[in-house]
Order: sequence, then structure tokens, then C-alpha cells
Amino acid sequence: MLFRHVGYARDFDKALQQRIFKRARMMRDSFATKTGKDALRNILPLKDKRNHLLMFKGKSTRTASTFIASILNLGGNAIPLGWEASSMAKGEMVPAMVRTQHAAGFSSLIIRYDDDDKDVIAEAIATCEEWNLDLFIVNAGLGNSEHPTQMLLDIFTIQGRLPEKLREERLKIAFAGDLAYSRVIQSLAVGLKEYKPEISFISQPKIRIPEWVKKELNDAGVRFYEIHEPLEHVIGSLGADIYYLTRLQTNLRKDWGKDTAADEELESQFLFYSGITEKAAKAAPAETLFMHPKPSGPELPEWFEKDPRNIAIEQIMNGIPLRMALYYERFAGDDDIEIELARSIPVTFHSKDGDVVATTSAEIRSVCSDPTCTAVKLRQSDGWGNIKPAEHVSLKHTSNMLCPKHRPTPPDRIKSMSGEEKIINPKPS
Ligand code: NCD
Repeated sequence: MLFRHVGYARDFDKALQQRIFKRARMMRDSFATKTGKDALRNILPLKDKRNHLLMFKGKSTRTASTFIASILNLGGNAIPLGWEASSMAKGEMVPAMVRTQHAAGFSSLIIRYDDDDKDVIAEAIATCEEWNLDLFIVNAGLGNSEHPTQMLLDIFTIQGRLPEKLREERLKIAFAGDLAYSRVIQSLAVGLKEYKPEISFISQPKIRIPEWVKKELNDAGVRFYEIHEPLEHVIGSLGADIYYLTRLQTNLRKDWGKDTAADEELESQFLFYSGITEKAAKAAPAETLFMHPKPSGPELPEWFEKDPRNIAIEQIMNGIPLRMALYYERFAGDDDIEIELARSIPVTFHSKDGDVVATTSAEIRSVCSDPTCTAVKLRQSDGWGNIKPAEHVSLKHTSNMLCPKHRPTPPDRIKSMSGEEKIINPKPS
């Protein structure tokens, strides 16, 4: 198991991220075919991990619905209960809630908690450890500093678009908006540190990036700049590959509405400092990408939705294979059921007749159980051949059939109980 819980962005180093992304690509490819879809719908039922619960204190559209879709795609049931609709609103404590949901038979608890009065994720994980509960705790947004699954889907999106820049540590990314309260931006900046990007933090001075993020980046040797100038003034010269925007995080700010004059000033300047004005859109080169976790405010105007540089929809779409990958890894990652998925990916079959027959791996009937071998038997053929699966598919060897190359040569004769010898493998005369 790669991880027991999804707690914090810092728990997902580059190596772990890459393993999850590999699985997410596999989920996406498999899900694109009918046989792959069908195979994936067996995953959670096969593991007897059918029921999953969302407990959200805080509003959500994309995170909630893509978690639900991902679990349904793997054959599970995802039920949103809601913090405020539960006994949590009567003062029940996190450990009691976690034990209750485990007793009710749920296999995962997806928690969002917008307040910052306590770390409910740490409490939930500690409860599972103390009571030895096999319950998968997933952080779907905590206070104003943590959103690890959004961080993963964002890096997955960046890698999909700019793989060389990320791999060669040449990525230039600028964050703009409510840097002080955006858990998305804080998690993403920390999650990217091992790729050594060059980061610019663009914001009004009052909502600058917090010290703890700067310390993480400094310790990791990441170069970053703080810019307190309007986006439209700097976008033409900054040369960032990606501008990552957020809205003003009014729901996460306890002090919002207390000082009306200061809030109004912040709000009225927000688009100018951190948003896409017509000037900013014109000044940004054609290859620039704009990302946004959504929902958006005035910083991402409706007229910019169709701009090809805006990839916010791609982020949402990537959230599904990414979250499926997390569930797959947690519940089935150690298993040999990969063959089911490999079956759904087009392969080339090299038969002994020398011909290369293109087919789909849905037709694979058996895989040689020698772990060094990729010999397979197709449904329509009696002979064994070799396939070249897509680069990211590993064929696990689950069947107990061996191909002729690996089958031990049977003995020519065996002795019966009475000592009589019998020829069982007559040589052709
Ligand atoms: C964000 C969140 O809730 O932190 N959205 C999301 O999860 N996709 C950002 C926001 O609400 O502005």
C-alpha cells in the first residue's frame, strides 16, 4: 500500500506523486474503453469496499462531485452526509464520528473542514490508528492551508501539458489572488517544490503568501519572488508558463465582514491585481496557460472561459482519474488484478506465424504465469504469442498457466504404484 490516508500535501513527495500519476494515466486509458470501464466497475466490489461517505463542513461542487464520480467509476457507492446535517452539529467529537462511520460499514471518509479551529484530519487519522480501524481518511480541503488532492490533480495537469519543463526543472509558475487564504495555492506551491520551479507570488500586500510556505520553499532551494503589482502590468514581461489564479477566499476568512471599509478596498482592487483584465489577456503570450481551481469570481471573467489558454476544465476532468487512482492504490494497488485493466488496452500480438496481428487486449485469455514472460493466449487462438502492452501497463501474472517456453518438460515415463512403468509422453516416431 503506497499510503493509508490522504492527509497533507507534504506527505506526497515527487516519487509518490509519480506513482499515483502513472496509475491515474492507467485509469484514464482504461476508462476510455468499454471493457476497461466494465473492469474498473469491479474493483471496489471485488475488494468488498463498496460504501464511502463524504462528510463536508464547507461548500463544494467540483471536489465533492469528482470524488463521487471516481468512486462510482470503481463500482462503489458514495454518499454525501454533510457535517451540519450530522450529529457533529450537536457537538459530537471527531473520534466518535469516525468510529460510528466505521461501525456503519463505510470504507472511506472524505472530509472537508473549512474552519481552522482544529485539525480534524489529524484527529480522524489518529482515531483509525488508535482503534485499528481499516478506514481510509481523505482530506478534501482543510482550513486555509491544505488541499492535497487538488494539489495532486493540478500537478498531474501541469505534467500533462508541460512534461519537459517539469522534468527538466524549467517550469515558471505564477500564483495570483488570495495567497494568504488559498489552501489550493499553498498546497500546490509545497507539492511542486521537488520539481524546483521558479515561482512568482502576485498579490495585494494584505493577502501575501504566508511565511510557512516561504520557509518550505527556501529550505528546498526553490527560487521565488513576491510581487505586489497588478497582474496586467507584469504579465507581459514575467514570462511564466502558467498563471494559477484564485478567487478571494471569503468563506475561509474568519475576519471577513468585520472591517467593511478594508474588505471593500481589497475586493475592489482584486481583479486589477490578480485577475484577467482585457489588458492582461492581450499581454499574455499565446502559449501561456491559465489554471483555476474554481469556483471563480471576477478574476476569471465569463468572456475568458472559452480562451484556449484557460485549462480550468481540464483540471476538473483530471480530478476523476486522479481520485480513482487514489482509491485504486489504497484498496487494490497491491493486487494482481491489473491484468483486468491491461485487457482493455489495445495491444499488438506477435504470433508464432510471424505475423503481427493488431487486436485489443480484451481478447487476452491467459497470461503466462512466469513473471519474466509476456506471453499471452488470445481467446480466438490456441497458440501463444507475445504482446507489447502500452508503456504504462504492467502485466501481472495471475493465471497458473505457463507458456510452452516456461512449461517444464514432462517426464517421459512415470511409475505406477505397483512399480509398473508407463510411457506418458511418447516421442513421435
Ligand atoms: C477550492 C477550495 O475549496 O479550496 N476549490 C476546490 O476545491 N476546487 C477553491 C475555492 O473555493 O476558491
